[in-house]
Amino acid sequence: MASASVTARAPAKINLQLAVGGLRPDGYHELATVFHAVGLYDDVTASEADTLQVSVGGDRDMATDAVPTDATNLAAQAVLLLAEHTGVEPAVHLHIHKGIPTAGGMAGGSADAAAALVACDALWETALPRADLHALAAKLGSDVPFALIGGTAIGMGRGEVLTPALARGRFEWVLALANDGMSTPEVYAECDRLRGRRVLPEPRITDGLMSALRAGDAHALGAALRNDLQPAATSLRPALRLALDLGEERGALGGIVSGSGPTVAFLARGSEHALDITVALSASGACSAVKRVSGPAPGARLVDAAAPRQL
Ligand code: C5P
Repeated sequence: MASASVTARAPAKINLQLAVGGLRPDGYHELATVFHAVGLYDDVTASEADTLQVSVGGDRDMATDAVPTDATNLAAQAVLLLAEHTGVEPAVHLHIHKGIPTAGGMAGGSADAAAALVACDALWETALPRADLHALAAKLGSDVPFALIGGTAIGMGRGEVLTPALARGRFEWVLALANDGMSTPEVYAECDRLRGRRVLPEPRITDGLMSALRAGDAHALGAALRNDLQPAATSLRPALRLALDLGEERGALGGIVSGSGPTVAFLARGSEHALDITVALSASGACSAVKRVSGPAPGARLVDAAAPRQL
């Protein structure tokens, strides 16, 4: 082996649009979504060990206690799947450094799984083709393939069928984090309950969003943000409305619950405006922490373990 320890970094995502269709026989919902990776990262360091072990640490404000260190951890499942696929013994210690909120609707667990695949593929020198990594990622969860590719991409199926989106420019976001995470299955179930027996149209992405991305037009992007899970997330957690209202008052170009929540994402006109929204949210007590990030961010990749975390 070339090295006894390898670190990979993977980004958080927000969904610029999340159109949720009907419940499929496999228990998933048919989706049409646009994923957008933002500059908030988890690092996974894979080191040789006697058996598979997981440890977790993190930036300030990260609820690392809520991350399992047993076989239910998605990064551990990623290692087992890669080991089975390549015939390598899964004898590694994974250390996960969290910069992405746990159960925050930003696919932090999926980022860990994607980073674990990339790190172990390098540690074991298995050099899997990207398509194989993508297929393993799709088995692990709906958002894991996107964490591998990053950028801005359209997701269909249950979210795992990806096409990179034509997108120009960078966007400045403010993220309002909550202390307690939300369960994705519970939010989808609440969405079903609120919709009742309504016949649902095929989920689709609007032309307005795609042209805003092609033009790199932040105002048009702000107006095009949509999330079909938002009514369910705010029904289960009415306090999210406080943050959404505050962002609107501060002139955010758009504000949206990220994925299944509870993180709320605001699009700012630029970095000064992002700072203004950040200060207002921090002072309000409407959320537990506030982060300023930009997007798009790259997908899972190897990093020098000594490299600074904030890129
Ligand atoms: O794929 P993943 O394990 O991340 O999904 C977590 C849960 O979210 C699923 O078990 C399901 O309840 C819900 N989900 C869904 N439809 C999707 C994606 C996720 O109902 N397209």
